[in-house]
Order: sequence, then structure tokens, then C-alpha cells
Amino acid sequence: MIKNQWYLAALLPELKKQNPLPKKIIGKELVIFKTESGAIHVLEDRCCHRNVNLSLGYVKGEHLKCAYHGWEFQGNGKCGCIPSLPREQEIPNTVKIATYPTVQKHNCIWVWMGEVEKMDQSKIPPMDELDEYPFVYNYHDIKGDLQLIAESLIDAYHINHVHRNSIKGMMGNLHGEEIAFNLNVDEASLTGEYYRHNEGSIFEKFYFGFEKKILTKFGFWFPHSSKLDIHFKKRRLVIYEHFYQIDENTVRMCQITAWKKIFNGFPLFFFAKWFMLNKSIRIVQEDIAFLESNKKIKDKRPGHDLLITPSDEVSLEFIKLWKKNTQPYEKATEKEDRKEAQVL
Ligand code: FES
Ligand SMILES: [Fe+2]
Repeated sequence: MIKNQWYLAALLPELKKQNPLPKKIIGKELVIFKTESGAIHVLEDRCCHRNVNLSLGYVKGEHLKCAYHGWEFQGNGKCGCIPSLPREQEIPNTVKIATYPTVQKHNCIWVWMGEVEKMDQSKIPPMDELDEYPFVYNYHDIKGDLQLIAESLIDAYHINHVHRNSIKGMMGNLHGEEIAFNLNVDEASLTGEYYRHNEGSIFEKFYFGFEKKILTKFGFWFPHSSKLDIHFKKRRLVIYEHFYQIDENTVRMCQITAWKKIFNGFPLFFFAKWFMLNKSIRIVQEDIAFLESNKKIKDKRPGHDLLITPSDEVSLEFIKLWKKNTQPYEKATEKEDRKEAQVL
């Protein structure tokens, strides 16, 4: 599991009702809660009295109250009230649970899952569009491999095939030509851009744009976020995917779709939300079949030999980036003798 990273624990709209929200990220059970004054805290999801989930409780003022015997926990993890304790008796400082540092950015709550001294806010991906555009989100649990999932999300070539029944038209087509991806590779991120042919239906063109070529930008931020950013002259569709292991075999994916000037104005705006959410869910479902099949076969063939064509420039750079960044997390004893991808 990859620690020392900021993970997207929740989107702000998820916390509207002030109910505690349980989440599991890289094997840790967390509870997120918003106090009456609006402060947001992330604690371990465990009451230290009798070990039940605090997410079964409720928010009371600035505290999170366990629903079992009413112990109340503060944002710093300390227990501030034990109803059954005599008034004059102080609660020892040792009665506390683990807390996780949080930051609110881009309408999301980010949680640091690692050593506090290594905390670095510059590692939060630049999801600026979520500050200004409307967006919808959905979650999926995938029996998949983290690396293969990350790689597939920035794969330009699968869209015309896997998504042939959903977004092929509105995203534009590729015609098997060699593509200039204009890659920019950093220490822990990779971005690029290329053009797709606009061959959508008349309905799609009317709402998205009539220009012949569609500028498509993409990005990956190690180890958990990808971006697909489709630019029409006036309109824009941005799909973020944030993904992490919840246990050894399952990856949770949060997909967020944001848009600018598509289906504008009342009542079309409500149609836009419905349309974007339905499309987004369909896109992920189309991917899941391949991602799960990918893992099943990889598990049976641990040397996971791959074939790569010269046009898979992005995949090659991705594999290098992934390897460089995962090295500190791999225990020497667990290193498998992986074959390098073979270039055709
Ligand atoms: S288990 Fe939480 S108060 Fe008793
Ligand atoms: Fe896909």
C-alpha cells in the first residue's frame, strides 16, 4: 500500500448532512465528520472504549459521539466526555484515537496517509476545474491491479474500442495513425496533449462543438489521479479519476466529471447533471470488465510480460515513472523478478 500521499477522502458535497462518513483508504478505516462550526476532521473509525465504528455515531456540537455508550471525541482524537464517569474524575489524556491531517482543496477533503514529517501539500493534484465548474461524482470498487488501472486511464487507444458505445463520438476518434502526444514527464507526474477527430452525431456536435479536431489533454499524478480534458472551442469536459487500494485485492475509484458550457442554463442544467452522471457511470463500467480481466490474468502470470508497440509512448513513460516512484515502497524480499515490457 502506498503511504506518504494525500488521498481524496471525500468530496465536500458528500458531507452536507453532517453525518459521519466512513471511508477505507489503503487498508485503514477512517471516519470523516463535519462539526457544527464547519470544521472537518478525519479520525480512525474506532471507538477506543469497546472497539466499535465511530461512524455509527453522530455529530454533537464540535464532537463526534459514539452511539454505543456516548463517549465523545474531539477533532484532535481526544475523548472529551464519558457520560458514565463521575463528574470530578478527569479523563486521562491517553484516552484518544488516531487522527489524520486533512486539507480542503478543489472542493475535496484530502487526507495525509503517512509520516507527518513527510507531509507535502504540493503533492495534491491540480484539480482547479472543480473550483469553478459544475461536477458529478461516483464511486466504484474494482477487483483490479493498481498499476494496470492507473495505466489504462491515460491510454488514448482504448477509448474507441472499450467505449465505442458510450463516448467514442463525443470524445472524437483516432484513426490508427501515430500520434504526437507532446509528453511532459516530471518526478511524479506526466501530462500530454493530442488531437482526436470530431465524428460525433449531430446531437453531440450541436452541444459539444463542430470543429474538426478536438484537443485532448491528459495527465497522471502518482500514484492515484488521472485526468482526461476534452477541449472544444467554447466547451470543455474534464474527467478526473482518483483511485487507491482499500485492501490487497480491491481498488476504489472515484470518478469526477466536470464541464463548462455544456447543456447551459435552466432547465438544461439539470439534464446536464443527469446526462454526465449516467455517462460517467457507464464509462467506468465499460472499463471495469477489462481491468478485472487484466488482474485475473496478471495474477496467473506473475512475470506479467507485456507487448508494447512504438506508438505506446505514453505507456512506456508511465511504466518508468511508476517503477521509479514505487521503488521506496517495495520491500527487497518481496521484489518479483519482473520482465520488462517488450517493445515490438
Ligand atoms: S463503545 Fe463507544 S462509547 Fe462504548
Ligand atoms: Fe476507459
